Amino acid sequence: MTPSCLWIVGLIGLLILANEPCVAGDNEKGMVATVHSLATMAGVEALQEGGNAIDAAVAAGLFLGVVDSHNSGMGGGCFMLIRLASGEIVALDGRETSPAKAHRDMYVRNGHAIPELSRTGPLAVAIPGQVAAFHEAIERYGKLPWKRHCLAAADVAEKGFAVTKNYESRLSSVRADLSKFAAARSIFMKEDGSTWQAGEQLSQPDLGQTLRALAREGPAWFYKGPFAQRTAEWMKENGGLITAADFSGYKVKHREPLQTKYRGYTILGFPPPSSGGVHVGQILNILESFDLKAMGQGSADFIHVVAEAMKLAFADRAFWLGDPDFAKVPRGLIDKAYATSLAQRIDLKKATNVRGHSTPPNASEDVFEKHTTHYSTADAEGNWVACTATINTTYGSKVVIPTTGVVLNNEMDDFSAEPGMPNAFGLVGGEANAVAPGKRPLSSMSPTILLRGGKPVLSVGAAGGPTIITQTLLTIIQIVDFGESVQTALAQPRFHQQWLPNELRIERSVPETVREELARRGHTLKVVDSLGACQAVGKLKDGPAFEGSHDPRVSDGAAGGL
Ligand code: GLY
Repeated sequence: MTPSCLWIVGLIGLLILANEPCVAGDNEKGMVATVHSLATMAGVEALQEGGNAIDAAVAAGLFLGVVDSHNSGMGGGCFMLIRLASGEIVALDGRETSPAKAHRDMYVRNGHAIPELSRTGPLAVAIPGQVAAFHEAIERYGKLPWKRHCLAAADVAEKGFAVTKNYESRLSSVRADLSKFAAARSIFMKEDGSTWQAGEQLSQPDLGQTLRALAREGPAWFYKGPFAQRTAEWMKENGGLITAADFSGYKVKHREPLQTKYRGYTILGFPPPSSGGVHVGQILNILESFDLKAMGQGSADFIHVVAEAMKLAFADRAFWLGDPDFAKVPRGLIDKAYATSLAQRIDLKKATNVRGHSTPPNASEDVFEKHTTHYSTADAEGNWVACTATINTTYGSKVVIPTTGVVLNNEMDDFSAEPGMPNAFGLVGGEANAVAPGKRPLSSMSPTILLRGGKPVLSVGAAGGPTIITQTLLTIIQIVDFGESVQTALAQPRFHQQWLPNELRIERSVPETVREELARRGHTLKVVDSLGACQAVGKLKDGPAFEGSHDPRVSDGAAGGL
């Protein structure tokens, strides 16, 4: 396939922006891949102005909070995995944190958790971490000033951007819930109560002012100043638990990155409270026992064995995973011998019934300390970033604190509100992920960087709840086992098995004969049109050029380089 790239010659110089996956071949100075062309352009402009991959990631991330605010923004959190040119690897945990007044049964009424309480409104909100994480990344590892990135995003918030078809449909899907909150209504709905349509211009002056205040005063304005105070007041008036002290106590955490090996590649993953790094590594470990290439790309044998490995890993996830500052998450989950023992439980001819979690070695002693978007950036100096950011489900809690323009997350739903009760993604969790004060909810976000011969060759990650883990995994397999390029790897058909519900979600593009064979082996298939949104930047071939791609399933996405 020949990619078609849209060339834009701007006053700032020459850059390449692709509305389709772009592998132009001369992207030697850097590359950015996001789900929105304006955010990709913002990242490329940061590179153009002398910034590095960290600047590009933060510039793109702040833009996404304006033009793609249903997925991520300052009201949410992120995990940022950075491989610096020096070889140092950094895992910045900007995950949201529960308020001090949160408690285990805060969603339980008459003996049962009420899902609506953890998904919409004041009790759904956890203390946002993105602003603190972005600021830490820029101050420590970026080259351009923090102010520059905030002001660039403020400009687009104030001038406005053209609503896309995708934005229109995400917005209209949550119209009823958004309309419950006055400030959200005033931004996202017109006077007649209808939501913005494709082609219309949406400007967000309050959000612009918030970004200008952040440019001027830094994160203190958000965590210790007017933003924290206004949020605390609104929460008090509306039955929320968050106080100004919760904001002032928020801290970005530097986590120890995970390192596993897969067929000669080093896989750098994000540790708990992400479950992504653990389970991408664990599933790859299990799959090393099988010759996937010989099974054939897209064959029933291939899909069967990968789905069975996914099922085993997700059963472990439901039991073991949680915030490592609160729960003991065994390191043995990524142990090679443990993976081999799990691989031996896979029957190549039929789907097995996995009754529950298994027990990794030294499970109690050797432990880890625990709708979304993903973007990847890289630069010629050798800095690489994989950043996954979220406010959880579409427009998060739907709460916008008046005058701020910031959509607050509903990340509290990523806790297990009641052990065994599924969350918005159908995921069940155990005690390790129960609500507690000051705790970070378990995440599936899986920003990942691959090294070959010690050199970074891929930055990848995805959006879409638990499918984040399996999309990231499948992209790695397509590249490592089947030799695909970044662009063709992302285009391959996807499937997902998360143990509970015990079903194999599979894209319709998988041929019917293959699906029939999987059903014959005992898989309960749920056929879907499209699964996920995965972005990646790579340097898979010899030579200086980067390749990058947004997920072809996401119409607004773009990869661009210079
Ligand atoms: N909110 C989705 C995740 O963190 O997994």
